[in-house]
Parts: sequence; C-alpha cells; structure tokens
Amino acid sequence: MVLNEIEAKAASKLIQKGYLDIPIPSGLDVVAEINRLRKEKNAVILAHYYQTGDIQDIADYVGDSLGLSQQAASTTADLIVFAGVHFMGETAKILNPSKKVVIPDLKAGCSLAESAEPNAFRAFREAHPDHVVITYINCSAEIKAMSDIICTSANAEKIVNSVPLDKPIIFAPDKNLGRYLIKKTGRDMLLWEGACIVHEAFAIDKLLELHKQHPTAKIIAHPESEDHLLKVAHYIGSTTGMINFVKNDSSQEYIVATEAGILHQMLKEAPQKSFIPAPSHEDNTCACSECAFMRLNTMQKLYLCLRYESPEIHVDEAIQRKALLPIQRMLEISKS
Ligand code: 13P
Ligand code: SF4
Repeated sequence: MVLNEIEAKAASKLIQKGYLDIPIPSGLDVVAEINRLRKEKNAVILAHYYQTGDIQDIADYVGDSLGLSQQAASTTADLIVFAGVHFMGETAKILNPSKKVVIPDLKAGCSLAESAEPNAFRAFREAHPDHVVITYINCSAEIKAMSDIICTSANAEKIVNSVPLDKPIIFAPDKNLGRYLIKKTGRDMLLWEGACIVHEAFAIDKLLELHKQHPTAKIIAHPESEDHLLKVAHYIGSTTGMINFVKNDSSQEYIVATEAGILHQMLKEAPQKSFIPAPSHEDNTCACSECAFMRLNTMQKLYLCLRYESPEIHVDEAIQRKALLPIQRMLEISKS
C-alpha cells in the first residue's frame, strides 16, 4: 500500500499512539465504508460484549472470550479485525498464524494480562513442576505458551474438572475467578495474585444500598468479581451466561456486576427488562464500570484498522506454536 504524507507520518507514530491517527474526511459514512471494506477484503469483525454498542452492532460476531476464540478458530476470512483487547487479538493470531489480525488500538491492554509477568510466572511454574497449569485466557501469548490448558469464564469449571484428581493445579492469573473455582470444584488450587481492575472496583456497600432501593432486582455477577460480591449474587457466570440468564429468568430488573458494555446486548435480548450497572467505588459520570482498555476502541479506529490493515498483531513463531496447544486443548474440552 502506497502511503501519502499524512498516512506515512501516522504510520511512524503508530507505536507511540497505539493506532493510526489519520483524520477521517468529514462526511464519510464510516458504517458504509466498513461494510464495503470488509466485503472487499474478505474480513471478519469480531467484537467482545464490552465494546461500545455501535461496535457490537457492526460486528459479524459479538460474544464472550470463548465464543470469540471459537469463531477465530473456524473463520474462513482472510483478515481478522478484533474489536477487543490485545490478548484477544493475540489469541486469534495464535489460532491463525498465517492470517493478518488487526486491532483498533494496540494500547487496549488488560490489567489481568499485565499482572502475569513472564519471568515471574516462569519461576512460579518451575517452583511447582508437578502442577498442571490452567491459565485464564486473559493473559499474554508468552504466558499461554507456559500453560497446559487455557480456560475462559464460560468453561473454567469444566476445564478444572478435566484434570485428574491426583494432579495439583496452578490457576492463573485471576485470583477471584480462582477462588470461585476452588469453591465450585472443591479443588485446592495454587493461585496467581492477579485481578481485573474493573471487577475489583465494584463497591459492596453501594451495591447493597442500591439493592435496597430495588428489592426485586436480581444481582448478577461475573466471577472476576470479589468474593464478598459473589456471595450476594443471585447468578454468577460469564458474559454469555449472564445474557442467557436475563433472557430466560422471570425477573424484570437486574443489577449487573460486570463491564457496562454488556448492557447493550442485554437490552437487545430482553428489551422489556431493566438493567442497572453495579456501582463502583469511584463515582464516574455514568456511575457504572467501564474498562478503560476496551473503551480505547472507537468506530473511527475500527474503520482505520480495517482500511489500513494496521495495527497488526504479531506473535513470535516459537511462542505461537507453544501457545496453540493449550488453546486447542481448551477448544477440544469445550466441545463435549
Ligand atoms: P468473558 O468474555 O469470558 O465473559 O470474560 C470477560 C472478560 O473479562 C473479558 O476481558
Ligand atoms: Fe481486562 Fe478487566 Fe478490562 Fe476484561 S474488563 S479486559 S479483564 S481489565
């Protein structure tokens, strides 16, 4: 692709900015352009439930981490545009090493993924050589390469139960999901001390106060939330689990303890019901919890990354080969 002066300047600042900062012509119909380009390039747009509503609506597939991995594993597209955070794009690249994978903003990271630094994780692993390492998908490709099986919140219980009872387990990097799984499965796992900044930001006192004002509302929570919050939840599950729950449950109102982007899908699936985001410690403008990493993605950046096929996700070849096996194990176990 031959770049003009503005495009070349933006490309030189890509790493610093995280995306191609190229002005979009005023009046450009971004939605129509995305639709045209994805057809022309045989691209697939995958989006997580934590993306803004406009991105979810234009995606070919919107889902949770498991569904997105399954889609990435089976896609016939030539170009994968991943509207999510960096580890999600990396997972798609690990599954499709010969395809181009782009994300709207390289700086869309994840506090959980950052909590597992590869050297420290290697040392932890080596200190417990007899342990099976189950790693939550919210981690870097390097950490995946050091893992035995990957899991997501949707299949974590099943993955833990797939390990023979006489095998000790390391679970990383989310300590809250780990503690929840210890309770659910009765397995005494060794936990890594990572956490999600969004799910740890929910304030239990404010939540209980809110519930007093809405006594018939059910509290639904993602298992990345802290134990005291999970204890008061009427339902605990992955983002897909939560959406299915509100669709099929008989209540009319829910307090939702996960990233607020999910409310868009909940309202689409159950428009007659009402959803209140769980309150966080900090009072922000919308009184809800948004993942600052996920929110780096915008429709403009989505258009730019599809148009210029940049920023691209790269994974070292040796790491890709090692990281693929634990992801494949997860996909295999999830089939049954
Ligand atoms: P799921 O997509 O598995 O529900 O997890 C949510 C999440 O934390 C994504 O970052
Ligand atoms: Fe990571 Fe939490 Fe954001 Fe998910 S919501 S991407 S776990 S920081």
